[in-house]
Amino acid sequence: MAALGATIALSERIVDGPSGFAGVEATPEWAAEIKRLARERNATILAHNYQLPEIQDVADHVGDSLALSRIAAEAPEDTIIFCGVHFMAETAKILSPEKTVLIPDQRAGCSLADSITAEQLAEWKAEHPGALVVSYVNTTAAVKALTDICCTSSNAVDVVASIDPDREVLFLPDQFLGAHVKRLTGRENMHIWMGECHVHAGINGDELNEQARTHPDAELFVHPECGCATSALYLAGAGEFPADRVHILSTGGMIDAAKAAKSKQVLVATEVGMLHQLRKAAPGIDFQAVNDRASCAYMKMITPAALLRCLVENRDEVHVDLETAARAKSSVQRMIEIGNPGGGE
Ligand code: 13P
Ligand code: SF4
Repeated sequence: MAALGATIALSERIVDGPSGFAGVEATPEWAAEIKRLARERNATILAHNYQLPEIQDVADHVGDSLALSRIAAEAPEDTIIFCGVHFMAETAKILSPEKTVLIPDQRAGCSLADSITAEQLAEWKAEHPGALVVSYVNTTAAVKALTDICCTSSNAVDVVASIDPDREVLFLPDQFLGAHVKRLTGRENMHIWMGECHVHAGINGDELNEQARTHPDAELFVHPECGCATSALYLAGAGEFPADRVHILSTGGMIDAAKAAKSKQVLVATEVGMLHQLRKAAPGIDFQAVNDRASCAYMKMITPAALLRCLVENRDEVHVDLETAARAKSSVQRMIEIGNPGGGE
């Protein structure tokens, strides 16, 4: 208990105001305190590539959805602090039910995960008896419990390609990722749910065309959730942008591609948090957002104050009821077993 008392006393020095944590900033003292509190409780801090730069910099691991799921599944620590959105923390809990999983702000949801409910999926399945359900990891635990295989943007193509070609596939919930997978696998018997992420759907073809026109020597990295992914491929197909400079990639795949990029400039079509890791991975390249307003408000709920509160007050704890978790686990387990770590194209 002495150690806990010391923790609170030290934390109070960097906490602004009696009500708690408002005004906490990402100072070096804050970062040292976060690391100390995490070590003290044997916790590991995971951060998605869309997190605020200061959250990414204090985390033990930064990555895409697939990489973070794999790390969560194997982490030796007792507690996982998930700096990302709720379905990601829930996935970690499904994989490691014996661990404590905390998310610094449980209001951090996802518009894409909200685009299909378990009831809607049950109805869709009833219309296609015998079909195999492939769900993007951006779904609730209840939807995962009705799923055969989960996937992320970095292994969606591998997951669908692994399924018997004669079997019908229900792919959900992202229509743009679904279209991308269908294009690459050439699979006709695949039905796609018409959900979307408001951030990625908002990066439109007109913006992309304009950026490509004004930066003819740049490479183009496009996340497959983007509404403009088809435009990017159209530009390449029409010869308006060299095909070998257009890359459709998961966020983790973008990091690998940045290290291998030959151009001095890269246009990036995804959530703007991505620019931080890209700039760290390849400091000599000028990375520019295709749409610099493409910021996910849910991801940005994980602030320095929220992370400090999480460690001091042990909140917000993520719970998945045991029956749902048990039913969801095999689909998530199959997801982490399929596909390469970087992922893309
Ligand atoms: P990645 O799987 O590429 O990390 O993207 C996930 C995503 O869009 C999270 O919102
Ligand atoms: Fe969900 Fe889109 Fe935000 Fe990703 S960027 S967490 S898909 S709302």
